[in-house]
Amino acid sequence: MNRENPSHSGAGDLIRAFRRTRAQTETLVDGLEPEDMGAQAFPEASPAKWHLAHTTWFFETFVLGEFHPRYKPFNAAFRSLFNSYYDSVGARPRQAERGWLTRPLLSEVLAWRRSVDAAMIDLLSETNERGLARLAPVVELGLAHEEQHQELLLTDGLALFARNPLMPAWAKPRLLPRRAAASVVEWIEHPGGMVAIGHSGPGFGFDNEMPRHPDLVAPFRLAGRLVINGDWLAFMEDDGYRRPFLWQSDGWEELQLQGWTAPEYWRCDEGVWTTMTLFGREAVDPEAPVCHISWYEADAYARWTGLRLPTETEWEAVAAVLPVAGNLLDAGFLRPLPLGASGPSARGRPRCSGTCGNGPAAGTVPIPAGVLLPAPSASTMASS
Ligand SMILES: [Fe+2]
Repeated sequence: MNRENPSHSGAGDLIRAFRRTRAQTETLVDGLEPEDMGAQAFPEASPAKWHLAHTTWFFETFVLGEFHPRYKPFNAAFRSLFNSYYDSVGARPRQAERGWLTRPLLSEVLAWRRSVDAAMIDLLSETNERGLARLAPVVELGLAHEEQHQELLLTDGLALFARNPLMPAWAKPRLLPRRAAASVVEWIEHPGGMVAIGHSGPGFGFDNEMPRHPDLVAPFRLAGRLVINGDWLAFMEDDGYRRPFLWQSDGWEELQLQGWTAPEYWRCDEGVWTTMTLFGREAVDPEAPVCHISWYEADAYARWTGLRLPTETEWEAVAAVLPVAGNLLDAGFLRPLPLGASGPSARGRPRCSGTCGNGPAAGTVPIPAGVLLPAPSASTMASS
Protein backbone atom coordinates (compact mmCIF):
# COMPACT_ATOMS: atom_id res chain seq x y z
CA MET A 1 0.00 0.00 0.00
CA ASN A 2 2.71 2.47 0.84
CA ARG A 3 6.01 0.74 0.23
CA GLU A 4 7.68 1.53 -3.04
CA ASN A 5 10.68 -0.69 -2.48
CA PRO A 6 9.98 -3.17 0.24
CA SER A 7 13.26 -5.04 -0.13
CA HIS A 8 15.22 -4.79 3.11
CA SER A 9 18.84 -5.74 2.96
CA GLY A 10 19.62 -6.21 6.64
CA ALA A 11 18.28 -6.31 10.18
CA GLY A 12 18.45 -2.49 10.49
CA ASP A 13 16.29 -1.94 7.42
CA LEU A 14 13.86 -4.61 8.51
CA ILE A 15 13.52 -3.16 12.01
CA ARG A 16 12.90 0.32 10.61
CA ALA A 17 10.26 -0.99 8.20
CA PHE A 18 8.66 -3.01 10.99
CA ARG A 19 8.48 -0.03 13.36
CA ARG A 20 7.15 2.28 10.64
CA THR A 21 4.40 -0.09 9.50
CA ARG A 22 3.25 -0.99 13.01
CA ALA A 23 3.16 2.67 14.04
CA GLN A 24 1.27 3.64 10.91
CA THR A 25 -1.52 1.20 11.76
CA GLU A 26 -1.99 2.80 15.15
CA THR A 27 -1.89 6.29 13.67
CA LEU A 28 -4.94 5.35 11.61
CA VAL A 29 -7.03 4.82 14.77
CA ASP A 30 -5.72 7.86 16.63
CA GLY A 31 -9.01 9.72 16.64
CA LEU A 32 -11.19 6.77 17.71
CA GLU A 33 -12.71 5.75 21.02
CA PRO A 34 -12.88 2.13 22.23
CA GLU A 35 -16.61 2.01 21.38
CA ASP A 36 -15.79 2.80 17.74
CA MET A 37 -13.39 -0.08 17.52
CA GLY A 38 -15.49 -3.06 18.54
CA ALA A 39 -18.26 -3.03 15.93
CA GLN A 40 -18.42 -4.21 12.31
CA ALA A 41 -20.77 -2.77 9.69
CA PHE A 42 -21.60 -6.05 7.96
CA PRO A 43 -20.59 -9.73 8.16
CA GLU A 44 -17.67 -9.43 5.72
CA ALA A 45 -16.14 -6.46 7.56
CA SER A 46 -14.11 -6.51 10.77
CA PRO A 47 -13.94 -4.22 13.79
CA ALA A 48 -10.88 -1.97 14.10
CA LYS A 49 -9.88 -3.76 17.29
CA TRP A 50 -9.85 -7.05 15.39
CA HIS A 51 -7.57 -5.60 12.69
CA LEU A 52 -5.15 -4.40 15.38
CA ALA A 53 -5.19 -7.84 16.98
CA HIS A 54 -5.08 -9.97 13.83
CA THR A 55 -2.04 -8.16 12.38
CA THR A 56 -0.28 -8.83 15.70
CA TRP A 57 -1.42 -12.45 15.58
CA PHE A 58 0.40 -12.85 12.26
CA PHE A 59 3.77 -11.90 13.75
CA GLU A 60 3.23 -13.92 16.93
CA THR A 61 2.09 -17.03 15.04
CA PHE A 62 4.30 -17.10 11.98
CA VAL A 63 7.43 -15.26 13.13
CA LEU A 64 7.87 -15.43 16.91
CA GLY A 65 6.24 -18.86 17.24
CA GLU A 66 8.43 -20.27 14.49
CA PHE A 67 11.72 -18.45 14.87
CA HIS A 68 12.06 -17.17 18.48
CA PRO A 69 13.55 -19.96 20.63
CA ARG A 70 12.30 -18.62 23.98
CA TYR A 71 8.99 -16.98 22.98
CA LYS A 72 5.94 -17.58 25.17
CA PRO A 73 2.58 -16.48 23.69
CA PHE A 74 1.02 -13.41 25.31
CA ASN A 75 -2.27 -15.32 25.66
CA ALA A 76 -2.57 -18.82 24.19
CA ALA A 77 -6.29 -18.30 23.40
CA PHE A 78 -5.48 -15.50 20.94
CA ARG A 79 -4.03 -18.04 18.50
CA SER A 80 -7.48 -19.19 17.48
CA LEU A 81 -9.41 -16.03 18.45
CA PHE A 82 -7.61 -13.83 15.91
CA ASN A 83 -6.99 -16.39 13.17
CA SER A 84 -8.72 -15.19 9.99
CA TYR A 85 -8.85 -18.16 7.63
CA TYR A 86 -5.59 -20.12 8.04
CA ASP A 87 -6.79 -23.73 8.28
CA SER A 88 -3.31 -24.91 9.21
CA VAL A 89 -3.53 -22.84 12.42
CA GLY A 90 -6.87 -24.36 13.43
CA ALA A 91 -10.37 -23.25 14.40
CA ARG A 92 -11.46 -19.61 14.63
CA PRO A 93 -14.65 -17.60 15.28
CA ARG A 94 -16.83 -16.79 12.26
CA GLN A 95 -16.02 -13.49 10.59
CA ALA A 96 -19.59 -12.31 11.00
CA GLU A 97 -19.18 -12.68 14.77
CA ARG A 98 -15.98 -10.70 15.25
CA GLY A 99 -18.03 -7.82 16.65
CA TRP A 100 -19.14 -10.07 19.49
CA LEU A 101 -15.61 -10.14 20.91
CA THR A 102 -16.00 -7.44 23.55
CA ARG A 103 -13.11 -9.21 25.29
CA PRO A 104 -10.17 -8.90 25.16
CA LEU A 105 -10.47 -5.21 25.84
CA LEU A 106 -8.89 -2.73 23.46
CA SER A 107 -6.30 -1.96 26.15
CA GLU A 108 -5.32 -5.66 26.23
CA VAL A 109 -4.99 -5.77 22.45
CA LEU A 110 -2.75 -2.70 22.54
CA ALA A 111 -0.65 -4.27 25.32
CA TRP A 112 -0.34 -7.38 23.14
CA ARG A 113 0.87 -5.23 20.27
CA ARG A 114 3.55 -3.65 22.54
CA SER A 115 4.67 -7.06 23.75
CA VAL A 116 4.89 -8.61 20.28
CA ASP A 117 6.63 -5.53 18.88
CA ALA A 118 9.31 -5.72 21.59
CA ALA A 119 9.83 -9.44 21.00
CA MET A 120 10.06 -8.88 17.24
CA ILE A 121 12.71 -6.17 17.66
CA ASP A 122 14.67 -8.47 19.99
CA LEU A 123 14.46 -11.32 17.51
CA LEU A 124 15.51 -9.21 14.54
CA SER A 125 18.38 -7.67 16.52
CA GLU A 126 19.70 -11.03 17.72
CA THR A 127 19.38 -13.05 14.51
CA ASN A 128 22.56 -13.61 12.50
CA GLU A 129 22.79 -13.07 8.78
CA ARG A 130 22.04 -16.70 7.92
CA GLY A 131 18.97 -16.77 10.15
CA LEU A 132 17.85 -13.44 8.76
CA ALA A 133 17.80 -14.89 5.25
CA ARG A 134 15.04 -17.29 6.42
CA LEU A 135 13.29 -14.79 8.65
CA ALA A 136 13.17 -11.74 6.38
CA PRO A 137 10.70 -13.09 3.78
CA VAL A 138 8.17 -13.96 6.50
CA VAL A 139 8.55 -10.54 8.16
CA GLU A 140 8.15 -8.82 4.80
CA LEU A 141 5.00 -10.85 4.17
CA GLY A 142 3.72 -9.80 7.62
CA LEU A 143 4.36 -6.14 6.79
CA ALA A 144 2.58 -6.39 3.44
CA HIS A 145 -0.26 -8.19 5.23
CA GLU A 146 -0.47 -5.39 7.79
CA GLU A 147 -0.58 -2.81 4.99
CA GLN A 148 -3.52 -4.67 3.46
CA HIS A 149 -5.24 -4.50 6.82
CA GLN A 150 -4.54 -0.75 7.06
CA GLU A 151 -6.63 -0.38 3.93
CA LEU A 152 -9.33 -2.67 5.34
CA LEU A 153 -9.30 -0.79 8.62
CA LEU A 154 -10.25 2.40 6.81
CA THR A 155 -12.76 0.88 4.39
CA ASP A 156 -14.46 -1.11 7.15
CA GLY A 157 -14.44 1.99 9.37
CA LEU A 158 -16.01 4.11 6.65
CA ALA A 159 -18.77 1.51 6.17
CA LEU A 160 -19.41 1.49 9.91
CA PHE A 161 -19.56 5.26 10.32
CA ALA A 162 -21.72 5.59 7.19
CA ARG A 163 -24.39 3.53 8.98
CA ASN A 164 -24.46 5.93 11.90
CA PRO A 165 -27.06 8.71 11.52
CA LEU A 166 -24.66 11.02 13.40
CA MET A 167 -22.25 10.64 10.46
CA PRO A 168 -19.16 10.76 12.67
CA ALA A 169 -15.69 11.63 11.42
CA TRP A 170 -12.95 9.02 11.63
CA ALA A 171 -10.12 11.55 11.36
CA LYS A 172 -9.40 15.24 10.95
CA PRO A 173 -9.04 16.27 7.30
CA ARG A 174 -5.73 17.49 5.97
CA LEU A 175 -5.83 20.70 3.99
CA LEU A 176 -6.13 19.83 0.32
CA PRO A 177 -3.44 21.04 -2.07
CA ARG A 178 -4.32 23.76 -4.57
CA ARG A 179 -6.20 22.34 -7.45
CA ALA A 180 -6.39 22.90 -11.17
CA ALA A 181 -9.14 21.66 -13.46
CA ALA A 182 -8.99 17.95 -14.20
CA SER A 183 -7.12 17.21 -17.37
CA VAL A 184 -8.84 16.00 -20.50
CA VAL A 185 -8.38 12.34 -21.27
CA GLU A 186 -5.16 11.51 -23.04
CA TRP A 187 -4.93 8.03 -24.44
CA ILE A 188 -2.01 5.73 -23.80
CA GLU A 189 -1.42 3.69 -26.92
CA HIS A 190 -0.12 0.14 -26.60
CA PRO A 191 1.04 -1.77 -29.68
CA GLY A 192 -0.07 -5.16 -28.34
CA GLY A 193 1.87 -8.39 -28.75
CA MET A 194 3.36 -10.70 -26.16
CA VAL A 195 3.68 -8.97 -22.79
CA ALA A 196 4.92 -10.30 -19.46
CA ILE A 197 2.75 -9.90 -16.37
CA GLY A 198 3.28 -10.85 -12.74
CA HIS A 199 5.97 -10.17 -10.19
CA SER A 200 9.63 -11.01 -10.57
CA GLY A 201 12.96 -9.67 -9.40
CA PRO A 202 13.81 -7.95 -6.14
CA GLY A 203 11.20 -6.50 -3.80
CA PHE A 204 8.10 -8.01 -2.28
CA GLY A 205 5.39 -9.76 -4.26
CA PHE A 206 2.43 -11.86 -3.09
CA ASP A 207 2.37 -15.48 -4.21
CA ASN A 208 -0.71 -14.87 -6.38
CA GLU A 209 1.32 -12.32 -8.39
CA MET A 210 3.73 -15.04 -9.44
CA PRO A 211 5.08 -16.59 -11.54
CA ARG A 212 5.67 -13.89 -14.10
CA HIS A 213 4.35 -15.21 -17.38
CA PRO A 214 3.73 -14.15 -20.99
CA ASP A 215 0.31 -13.16 -22.32
CA LEU A 216 -0.87 -12.04 -25.74
CA VAL A 217 -2.81 -8.80 -26.21
CA ALA A 218 -4.18 -7.08 -29.30
CA PRO A 219 -3.29 -3.38 -29.82
CA PHE A 220 -5.31 -1.22 -27.46
CA ARG A 221 -5.34 2.14 -25.78
CA LEU A 222 -5.96 2.99 -22.16
CA ALA A 223 -7.40 6.24 -20.82
CA GLY A 224 -4.74 8.30 -19.09
CA ARG A 225 -6.90 9.48 -16.23
CA LEU A 226 -9.53 8.17 -13.87
CA VAL A 227 -13.26 8.63 -14.25
CA ILE A 228 -14.33 11.50 -12.01
CA ASN A 229 -17.56 12.12 -10.12
CA GLY A 230 -18.63 14.70 -12.71
CA ASP A 231 -18.44 12.00 -15.39
CA TRP A 232 -20.44 9.69 -13.16
CA LEU A 233 -23.15 12.30 -12.59
CA ALA A 234 -23.53 12.55 -16.36
CA PHE A 235 -23.94 8.76 -16.52
CA MET A 236 -26.60 8.93 -13.79
CA GLU A 237 -28.41 11.84 -15.43
CA ASP A 238 -28.50 9.84 -18.65
CA ASP A 239 -30.39 7.06 -16.80
CA GLY A 240 -27.31 4.87 -16.52
CA TYR A 241 -28.85 3.08 -13.55
CA ARG A 242 -32.20 2.64 -15.29
CA ARG A 243 -31.26 1.15 -18.65
CA PRO A 244 -30.82 -2.63 -18.48
CA PHE A 245 -29.06 -2.94 -21.83
CA LEU A 246 -26.05 -1.12 -20.36
CA TRP A 247 -25.61 -3.84 -17.77
CA GLN A 248 -24.44 -7.43 -17.53
CA SER A 249 -27.57 -9.49 -16.84
CA ASP A 250 -26.37 -10.60 -13.41
CA GLY A 251 -25.25 -7.03 -12.74
CA TRP A 252 -28.74 -5.79 -13.53
CA GLU A 253 -30.14 -8.41 -11.15
CA GLU A 254 -27.74 -7.20 -8.46
CA LEU A 255 -28.74 -3.58 -9.14
CA GLN A 256 -32.38 -4.45 -8.51
CA LEU A 257 -31.59 -6.58 -5.48
CA GLN A 258 -29.42 -3.89 -3.89
CA GLY A 259 -31.43 -0.92 -5.12
CA TRP A 260 -28.40 0.77 -6.68
CA THR A 261 -29.10 4.27 -8.02
CA ALA A 262 -25.69 5.86 -7.32
CA PRO A 263 -22.27 4.89 -5.91
CA GLU A 264 -22.21 3.55 -2.36
CA TYR A 265 -22.60 6.30 0.28
CA TRP A 266 -23.99 8.88 -2.19
CA ARG A 267 -27.18 10.67 -1.16
CA CYS A 268 -29.18 13.43 -2.79
CA ASP A 269 -30.87 16.04 -0.59
CA GLU A 270 -32.76 18.81 -2.38
CA GLY A 271 -30.70 18.32 -5.52
CA VAL A 272 -27.31 18.27 -3.77
CA TRP A 273 -25.28 15.06 -3.86
CA THR A 274 -23.23 14.22 -0.81
CA THR A 275 -21.12 11.21 0.10
CA MET A 276 -19.74 9.74 3.29
CA THR A 277 -16.01 10.24 3.81
CA LEU A 278 -13.62 9.54 6.67
CA PHE A 279 -14.26 13.16 7.66
CA GLY A 280 -18.04 12.85 7.82
CA ARG A 281 -20.61 13.56 5.10
CA GLU A 282 -19.40 15.98 2.42
CA ALA A 283 -20.54 17.33 -0.93
CA VAL A 284 -19.56 15.14 -3.87
CA ASP A 285 -16.54 16.75 -5.54
CA PRO A 286 -17.14 16.57 -9.32
CA GLU A 287 -13.41 16.51 -10.00
CA ALA A 288 -12.48 13.75 -7.59
CA PRO A 289 -12.17 10.18 -8.91
CA VAL A 290 -15.36 8.19 -8.49
CA CYS A 291 -15.08 5.40 -5.95
CA HIS A 292 -17.22 2.89 -4.04
CA ILE A 293 -18.64 1.42 -7.19
CA SER A 294 -18.89 -2.27 -8.01
CA TRP A 295 -17.32 -3.95 -11.02
CA TYR A 296 -20.81 -4.16 -12.55
CA GLU A 297 -21.22 -0.40 -12.28
CA ALA A 298 -17.79 0.24 -13.80
CA ASP A 299 -18.67 -2.15 -16.62
CA ALA A 300 -22.03 -0.43 -17.27
CA TYR A 301 -20.34 2.98 -17.26
CA ALA A 302 -17.74 1.79 -19.77
CA ARG A 303 -20.49 0.41 -22.03
CA TRP A 304 -22.32 3.73 -21.79
CA THR A 305 -19.21 5.47 -23.10
CA GLY A 306 -18.99 2.98 -25.97
CA LEU A 307 -15.85 1.43 -24.56
CA ARG A 308 -14.97 -1.44 -22.27
CA LEU A 309 -12.90 -2.08 -19.17
CA PRO A 310 -9.34 -3.27 -19.73
CA THR A 311 -8.28 -6.79 -19.00
CA GLU A 312 -5.80 -7.38 -16.21
CA THR A 313 -3.02 -7.94 -18.75
CA GLU A 314 -3.82 -4.71 -20.61
CA TRP A 315 -3.87 -2.70 -17.41
CA GLU A 316 -0.66 -4.20 -16.09
CA ALA A 317 1.14 -3.78 -19.42
CA VAL A 318 0.61 -0.01 -19.07
CA ALA A 319 0.73 0.44 -15.29
CA ALA A 320 3.84 -1.60 -14.59
CA VAL A 321 6.13 0.82 -16.41
CA LEU A 322 4.72 3.94 -14.73
CA PRO A 323 6.28 5.26 -11.50
CA VAL A 324 4.65 4.24 -8.21
CA ALA A 325 3.77 7.72 -7.01
CA GLY A 326 0.78 9.75 -6.05
CA ASN A 327 -1.72 10.05 -3.25
CA LEU A 328 -0.43 7.12 -1.21
CA LEU A 329 -1.25 6.51 2.45
CA ASP A 330 1.91 8.31 3.57
CA ALA A 331 0.52 11.55 2.10
CA GLY A 332 -2.12 11.45 4.84
CA PHE A 333 -5.10 12.73 2.84
CA LEU A 334 -7.18 9.57 3.37
CA ARG A 335 -9.39 10.43 0.42
CA PRO A 336 -9.23 10.42 -3.37
CA LEU A 337 -7.92 13.85 -4.33
CA PRO A 338 -9.47 15.89 -7.15
CA LEU A 339 -7.39 15.09 -10.21
CA GLY A 340 -6.02 18.59 -10.54
CA ALA A 341 -4.81 18.49 -6.92
CA SER A 342 -3.07 15.17 -6.92
CA GLY A 343 0.35 16.19 -8.12
CA PRO A 344 2.10 17.11 -11.32
CA SER A 345 1.69 13.77 -13.01
CA ALA A 346 -2.09 14.17 -12.90
CA ARG A 347 -1.93 17.00 -15.41
CA GLY A 348 -2.05 15.33 -18.76
CA ARG A 349 0.14 12.45 -17.72
CA PRO A 350 -1.05 9.00 -16.77
CA ARG A 351 -1.12 7.63 -13.26
CA CYS A 352 -2.10 4.16 -12.20
CA SER A 353 -1.27 4.10 -8.50
CA GLY A 354 -1.98 6.02 -5.35
CA THR A 355 -5.42 7.30 -6.14
CA CYS A 356 -8.29 4.86 -5.80
CA GLY A 357 -7.54 1.29 -4.87
CA ASN A 358 -5.24 -0.90 -6.88
CA GLY A 359 -7.47 -3.17 -8.91
CA PRO A 360 -7.44 -3.61 -12.64
CA ALA A 361 -10.75 -1.80 -13.20
CA ALA A 362 -8.95 1.32 -14.23
CA GLY A 363 -9.51 2.07 -17.85
CA THR A 364 -11.26 1.32 -21.04
CA VAL A 365 -10.16 0.21 -24.42
CA PRO A 366 -11.97 0.27 -27.76
CA ILE A 367 -14.06 -2.64 -28.96
CA PRO A 368 -13.09 -4.10 -31.30
CA ALA A 369 -9.45 -3.24 -30.89
CA GLY A 370 -8.54 -0.09 -32.76
CA VAL A 371 -12.12 1.09 -33.31
CA LEU A 372 -13.38 3.69 -30.89
CA LEU A 373 -17.18 3.72 -30.71
CA PRO A 374 -18.98 7.05 -30.26
CA ALA A 375 -18.83 8.04 -26.63
CA PRO A 376 -21.06 10.55 -24.86
CA SER A 377 -18.36 11.21 -22.27
CA ALA A 378 -14.68 11.91 -22.75
CA SER A 379 -13.61 10.26 -19.52
CA THR A 380 -13.11 6.60 -19.42
CA MET A 381 -11.12 5.34 -16.49
CA ALA A 382 -13.12 3.62 -13.80
CA SER A 383 -11.91 2.98 -10.32
CA SER A 384 -13.14 0.60 -7.69
FE1 LIG B 1 -5.26 -11.01 7.34
